[in-house]
Amino acid sequence: METILLDGQNAQDIRRAGEILQKGGLVAIPTETVYGLAGNALCGETVKKIYQAKGRPSDNPLIVHINKTEQLASLVQEVPESARKLAEAFWPGPLTMILPKSSLIPPETSGGLSTVAVRCPSHPVARAVIEAAGLPLAAPSANLTGRPSPTTFAHVQADLTGRVDALLDGGDCQVGVESTVITLAEETPRLLRPGGVTLAQLRRVLGEVVVDPAVLHRMEEGQRAASPGMKYKHYAPAAEVVLVDASPEEYADYVNARGDGWALCFTETVSRMEVPVLPYGGRYDGASQAHVLFDALHRLDVQGIKKAYAQMPSKRGVGLAVYNRLIRAAGFQVINPQSHHILGLTGPSGAGKSTVGEILRRQGCFVIDCDQVTRSPQVYDAACLEELAQAFGPEVVQNDALNRQELARRAFSSQKARARLGEITFPRILRQVRACMREGQEQGFSLLVLDAPTLFEAGLDGACSRILVVDAPKEERLRRILRRDGLSEEAALRRLEAQPSGDFYTSRADWVVENGPGADLEASVAALLDDLRPE
Ligand code: TXA
Ligand code: MG
Repeated sequence: METILLDGQNAQDIRRAGEILQKGGLVAIPTETVYGLAGNALCGETVKKIYQAKGRPSDNPLIVHINKTEQLASLVQEVPESARKLAEAFWPGPLTMILPKSSLIPPETSGGLSTVAVRCPSHPVARAVIEAAGLPLAAPSANLTGRPSPTTFAHVQADLTGRVDALLDGGDCQVGVESTVITLAEETPRLLRPGGVTLAQLRRVLGEVVVDPAVLHRMEEGQRAASPGMKYKHYAPAAEVVLVDASPEEYADYVNARGDGWALCFTETVSRMEVPVLPYGGRYDGASQAHVLFDALHRLDVQGIKKAYAQMPSKRGVGLAVYNRLIRAAGFQVINPQSHHILGLTGPSGAGKSTVGEILRRQGCFVIDCDQVTRSPQVYDAACLEELAQAFGPEVVQNDALNRQELARRAFSSQKARARLGEITFPRILRQVRACMREGQEQGFSLLVLDAPTLFEAGLDGACSRILVVDAPKEERLRRILRRDGLSEEAALRRLEAQPSGDFYTSRADWVVENGPGADLEASVAALLDDLRPE
């Protein structure tokens, strides 16, 4: 079949795409998530051709794309309050809702199910094509079944040239992973596929949302899939992919020592690697990971790579979608080379880190108090004292010992001075903390905790496989600091203000323990320990 190439910037090409679709043809179109292979969703014969072109099993239903929320009503039996709220909050955008279908939807589109999946994309080209066709469009991801979804026009060309009527070029997709899929057809809304709209965002609108087990785990043989797409091998490049559950430092050591594969890793880890790398976003920026993940997987194929390792994403926020795709690309192969976890415990002053650290210790963790390490004499050897004297004046050293008060007065006087202090002391603190970690490992602990207020500033996060943030409302933290440290209100406020603010901590966390008045810390800690246990 001849496949024509169309340009998403060109109005005439958009009209042309609309005509092809009206006549029952297939057109690959850009959306904000991934490219889709579109056809008339209301025509069973057209939909059969979509399955054929993708090589997709016909019991795996398609998503119907509309360009106005009002169009939902005719495709489903009724529009419940929950759907109205979600549409209001997230449409147009990367969210698909499943509801009992109306008789307009042919069985081919719904894969024989009594429900239909509907989404209203935000990509201007996708919207213009739906408008031009004047039809709801069934559009699965525009890849051959089993291959990673296409996020660039080159990916679409590689998979579908010669198999469909036209390909419409819209450049790179912004989100990079497929839409979030939620079913509203049951009593409690259920997340079937994580995507650009996060679980936390859904819960903010709907209250309770359950997570389908297939989001995080391999489906057992013979188990019924809530979302048929979950049971198929998915997102897989030709290469063997191994997901490594370790800190960035351990990841680099392990992959470098093996030396037998490429490394998918976060930008922060690139400089540690001695094997070819494919960076996939920032460690604490799930959206940036989602944006490039499929392109990285495609690159493995283009380069003919046999084996690749991937660094573990967080399961929070958009990270959950990244994890969900990667674990499938890896065929659920996850390894923890050291058989332990190093948990970074941090958060703003007065949030209650030490209390959580105490609970973790009682639960059998090896807890390292990094503040105590910071004050330990081993950090302030002769060379360190000399550097400090040079940076802050000879008065900070007296009789070959540190004058702590004087150093604090001078080093905390400005951001710049504080940074200079860090440059001198952090490498030494790191060395001491590492010595403590080795001690814990030698004693056979499988969970080590670094209780460190300046975890990120000191670069200790590179040693952590997970990060736990304890947070509390500012007034509550202030109250605790006043009571605990006997400071004046002004001094306490100054201390709080000198710390990073806003979501600096929480945006980097794998878990956030909210420690406001009445919080059940024991329960929060128990839940996260549960989460860490190997499956
Ligand atoms: O972002 C996206 O959603 C992209 C773009 C093109 O819009 N489309 C996409 O479609 O990812 P597809 O077909 O690759 O994935 C649709 C997923 C499949 O896992 C399918 O099993 C599930 O949605 N699904 C569709 N209808 C369903 C239904 N009625 N009940 C349960 N799951 C359904
Ligand atoms: Mg797909």
